[in-house]
Amino acid sequence: MNNSFLSACKGQNTGRIPVWFMRQAGRYLPEYQRVRRRHSFLELCKRPDLCAEVSLQPVEILHVDAAILFSDILIPMEAMGLALEFRKGAGPVFPEPVRDQRALARLRIPEPEADMPFVLETIRLLRQQLTVPLIGFAGAPFTLATYVIEGRSSRNFLLTKKMMYREPALYHEILKKITACTAKYLTAQARAGAQALQLFDTWAGALAPEDYAVFALPYVREVLAELRRHTDIPLIYFANHGATLLPTTSRLDADVLGIDWHVPLATAISLVNAAEKPLAVQGNLDPLALFLPARQLETRIRAMLDAARAAHGYIFNLGHGVVPETDPESVRLAVDIVHNYQRPVQ
Ligand code: CP3
Repeated sequence: MNNSFLSACKGQNTGRIPVWFMRQAGRYLPEYQRVRRRHSFLELCKRPDLCAEVSLQPVEILHVDAAILFSDILIPMEAMGLALEFRKGAGPVFPEPVRDQRALARLRIPEPEADMPFVLETIRLLRQQLTVPLIGFAGAPFTLATYVIEGRSSRNFLLTKKMMYREPALYHEILKKITACTAKYLTAQARAGAQALQLFDTWAGALAPEDYAVFALPYVREVLAELRRHTDIPLIYFANHGATLLPTTSRLDADVLGIDWHVPLATAISLVNAAEKPLAVQGNLDPLALFLPARQLETRIRAMLDAARAAHGYIFNLGHGVVPETDPESVRLAVDIVHNYQRPVQ
């Protein structure tokens, strides 16, 4: 069993630095596309045998040190009672978004084992086959709320922010339900065998820090607190565009902070290390840096690894997901560069 990822989550880098990639299972891999040609994305998400297959692909092809469950952050929103579609070009769509009390009242808190059995079955299947740890995940409540309220991906989150400012009670009621659903869902993933859990707060950076503090952060805290009551596996929080939030997020009761690529890794680490009990750090190569020529990619990654020596536990990752146009060879090269890095003798 390769445990370098779990050790780093707990603050220790012994031996090789662990590496995995957000969106490591996905469209840039021809092996994924082969599976995907025969099934729609949502069909795929509901077939544990196929989800396990595509989760394993990057482990076998790239030699990453952790697997991530194949699913989507919007699956539990569908289980709350919202019809969900993935449309070509538009991405995810909720045709009946939640914008009033009636729609809110219809949202239910799903029972993960009964309502999303395929996710938990995927976890059980993967644990039988993996030799690296398995990461489960969910969307953070604010990020999920943007999809549920807007009905689709949004440019400026107009409807979400209008609701926050003009109908705060409605907004907070929606967030409370999503938070309860998320905590229950992640607890079920841990019970099924997930060995770490990541909360994806993809749109956190769209909020002014003062709004993040009121409309997003309390719900992240609530999910983390609830998870601490039920499991002792490492908890990772990733806030995309979250550099300005680091003085706050570095004090969350998580184990690892995911760092996006808009901030130098050294700056992020010094902010994280200012906390009383510094968290481990994960990130933060620009996903598009995988298009650099090999030598320059190596220089870039080695500079990050030098900076990462100051962290209390470090996991190499991108600052956001792998983009579909990426050459799998570059991803494989990045893994090798990280694994071959020797920590300079102090
Ligand atoms: O490898 C992995 O990271 C595990 C699987 C995973 C997927 N989505 C598969 C997926 C994970 C962790 C996610 C999380 C997710 N989903 C997030 C948060 C992470 C992030 O990227 O910020 C968000 C915002 C979503 C919502 C979502 N799902 C969008 C916006 C899209 C459309 C993207 C696009 O470019 O069309 C999806 C679809 C999706 N989720 C795909 C995959 C592999 C592509 C589906 C396909 O095969 O067509």
